[in-house]
Amino acid sequence: EKNGTIELLGKTYKTDHVTNIRSSLIPKIGIGLHNMKHHPLNLLKRQIVDYFYKNFINRQKNPVFSVYDSISPVVTLHQNFDSLLVPEDHVSRKLSESFYLNSEYMLRAHTSSHQSDLIRTGLNAFLVFGDVYRRDTIDSSHYPIFHQAEGVRLYRGQELFSKMNITGDYQIFENGEKNETKQPLHTKEAVMILEHELKSTLENLAFELFGKDVETQWVDAYFPFTHPSWELEIKFQGEWLEMLGCGIMEQEPLTEAGAGDQIGWAFGLGLERLAMRLYSIPDIRQFWRYNDSGFMSQFDVKDPSTPIKYKEVSSYPQRIYNMSFWLTDGYSENDFYDLVRNVGGDVVEQVRLTDDFYHPKMKRHSHCYEIVYRDMSKSLSKEEANIIHKQIGEAASKELGVENRW
Ligand code: PHE
Repeated sequence: EKNGTIELLGKTYKTDHVTNIRSSLIPKIGIGLHNMKHHPLNLLKRQIVDYFYKNFINRQKNPVFSVYDSISPVVTLHQNFDSLLVPEDHVSRKLSESFYLNSEYMLRAHTSSHQSDLIRTGLNAFLVFGDVYRRDTIDSSHYPIFHQAEGVRLYRGQELFSKMNITGDYQIFENGEKNETKQPLHTKEAVMILEHELKSTLENLAFELFGKDVETQWVDAYFPFTHPSWELEIKFQGEWLEMLGCGIMEQEPLTEAGAGDQIGWAFGLGLERLAMRLYSIPDIRQFWRYNDSGFMSQFDVKDPSTPIKYKEVSSYPQRIYNMSFWLTDGYSENDFYDLVRNVGGDVVEQVRLTDDFYHPKMKRHSHCYEIVYRDMSKSLSKEEANIIHKQIGEAASKELGVENRW
C-alpha cells in the first residue's frame, strides 16, 4: 500500500475514496487453506467433491460436476453484486460490510461471484471453492476471511424431465405469474423437479457429512439471485445450525450469461462453520495454524471421511480488558473491529460491545468494548497484553478520531 496503489496477487490496483482493505489482511489473501493437503478445510472440501462425483455421473460413468478451487478472490463489483441482481441499496454493498480495493474491484464476499462467468463458458454443473471476505464482528466464529463452497446445476427441458422418467408434453418455461413458489417464466412442473433434486441432494450431503441420523429442516429464505430460496438447518448438539443457502436460480442472470434456455439450482455453504462442528474445532482462528504441526498432524489422514475429533493442543489463559471512548460522526463498529484485527492480529480472540451510552448534556455517544486477548501458541503475559491494548487505543483515537475515556 504505497503511493495510492495496492499490490495484490501480482497485480497493482489504484486506491480511491472507497479503499478500505487493511494491510494486515494482505498476507493472508490467496493463501487458500482449502487447497492445503491435510488441512481440515481441505478434508471437508474433498468430502464434498467426492459426494458430487459419486452421485452425479453421466452415461459414460464420468462425473458431471467440474471443480474450480483456484479462482482469484479479487472480483469486480459487477461480479459480486450486479451479475447476481443485488439491489443498489442492499446492505451487503455498504463499505462497512465488504473489503474494497477501489470503486471497481473488491474481495469477493461469496463464491456466487463466479456463477455468471462459469455459466458463460458453457458449463452446466460446477462446484467452486474459495476464500471469501467480509467485515464483521470478532468472536470465536467470525474471521474476516472464511471459505465457501458453491454448487450450480443447470438443465435443458428434455434433460430435466427424462432424468426423472417423466414422459408427456411438459415444458420448463411459460409466460406465467410470479408467486411464492416460482418465477414468472418457470412452469411449476419444472420447479417441482428442481426443488426435489436440490433438496434431496443437499440433505444427503448433510447425512454424508454428519451421519444418517442427523436431523434436518428447511427454512424459507431470501437471496436476490434465487427464487424460491431456502436454508438447510441441521440439529447439532441440540441446536439448529444453518448449514447452507440455496434456491432456484433467477432466470435473468442465466439469460445474461447465455444460458437462457436452461433452468437450474444453486447453493452456497460456509466451510469453517461446518468443519468446526465436524471436527470439534472450538475457534475459527485455529484454521490459520497451517504451519503448526500440533494442529495439522491431527488431520493427517488418507481418507477424507475418516472421523476426527480435534484435541486442543493446549489452552493458554485469556487476558480481558475494557476500552471506552466517545464516538465521532461516521463511526462504524466494523471500522473498529477491523482496526483491532489490524493492530492486535490473531491474539485478539473476541471483541464485544458491552455498553452503548448517550450523554444527554454533552449530546455524545460512548461505546465500551470488552477485548479478550489470547495467544494460541504461548501464554500471553500481562505486559504483552498491556502493550497491544494500548496500541489499539492509540490507533483508535488516531485513525477513527474517537476520544478515549480511561
Ligand atoms: N451466496 C450466498 C451466501 O453467501 C449463498 C447462496 C449461494 C445462496 C447460492 C443461494 C444460492 O450467503
